Amino acid sequence: MKILAIETSCDETAAAVVEKQKSGLIRVLGEAVASSEAMHIKTGGIVPEVAAREQVVSIIPVIQETLKQTINHASNSVSQDQSELTNWSKANLDAIAVTQGPGLIGSLLVGVETAKTIAWSWNKPLIPVNHLLGHIYANWIEKLEQKPDGQSQPLFPLLCLIVSGGHTELVLMKDHHDYMIIGGTRDDAAGECFDKCARILGLPYPGGPHISKLATNMSGTHKHPDWQSLPRPLLHEDTLDMSFSGLKAAFVRQVKHLSQDNHLNQHTKQILAADLETAIAEVLSKKVSMALDSFNPKSFLLAGGVAANPTLRNHLEGVCQSHQIPFFKPPQKYCIDNAVMIGAAAIYRHKTINPVQLKVNPGLHL
Ligand code: KG4
Ligand code: ZN
Repeated sequence: MKILAIETSCDETAAAVVEKQKSGLIRVLGEAVASSEAMHIKTGGIVPEVAAREQVVSIIPVIQETLKQTINHASNSVSQDQSELTNWSKANLDAIAVTQGPGLIGSLLVGVETAKTIAWSWNKPLIPVNHLLGHIYANWIEKLEQKPDGQSQPLFPLLCLIVSGGHTELVLMKDHHDYMIIGGTRDDAAGECFDKCARILGLPYPGGPHISKLATNMSGTHKHPDWQSLPRPLLHEDTLDMSFSGLKAAFVRQVKHLSQDNHLNQHTKQILAADLETAIAEVLSKKVSMALDSFNPKSFLLAGGVAANPTLRNHLEGVCQSHQIPFFKPPQKYCIDNAVMIGAAAIYRHKTINPVQLKVNPGLHL
């Protein structure tokens, strides 16, 4: 089964053609992505209207590039002709999948309306996909650096931690169609906390990778005499709830404090970045550890943009080792938003809809 998947929930315009292997893993046959990230650096965060306009500009070229790659992959012939792309797609694609939500309404509309039009005109089934489920299914993508037969896939029941720019959720999945949220943030998402703290330090959007880089380059542990470690919110509370807004506020206070005393320099910024990254990793891994103790799943999955963070990955590696449970994480490239994960989710949870009836849902829940 070959699926053309489209993802436009935020500032990435992405398309991919994917196929399920006998192993159950998802192979990428072609993919392309355009990002308006650079346009948001100037504003320190995403401007929804700018992101939506860029989606309009990029969507058709991104789909065309994806189909060209897929055809070249299949036949080794370099195809440029639009009618050849259409004929091949009509003959070989089994369905169209698209992110229905959650996300920015203007960006989502571009992907959804394009997918509806393609599905209708090529007479293909249309599969709406929840973006958060897409992040989870990034864990079924075949890893090119490993031999396919050396790879295993997640076993049910499983526990998944989704950590992205807009969400932080602990999800327990009994099967592909059977899941429940067992914990999550009460306020800001972990990615949002990274992004906002980075902004206070004058780092570009998205801030997570920049905080991570600053923390890695930390040249020592010497602290200012007044230094207080950042809080680890709800760390010792008997709940799977999390909270990151207080951590962000404490970070802002610390930065102001250091600036007033003229102590905000590259070195103190590095210490702050490392402390923030460790605080987030400690809270997340403690909650994962508690959930593993309570629910005793067979595998643990990490998902979402923040899953690319090496400190978090290391902490969770330790938790999974001590619980003797396999740890699955997507390749770095597929942690952040992409269309391959949308195709993977569509293959495993494929519920079609009449194209005329599909509407975007910016607030869609899991
Ligand atoms: O999943 P994603 O691409 O978009 C959403 O669905 O929100 O996640 C984006 C988030 C941003 O907050 C970004 O700062 C964070 O993922 N992120 C990271 C890293 N790479 C991306 N956070 C920490 N460390 C990273 N290496
Ligand atoms: Zn995402």
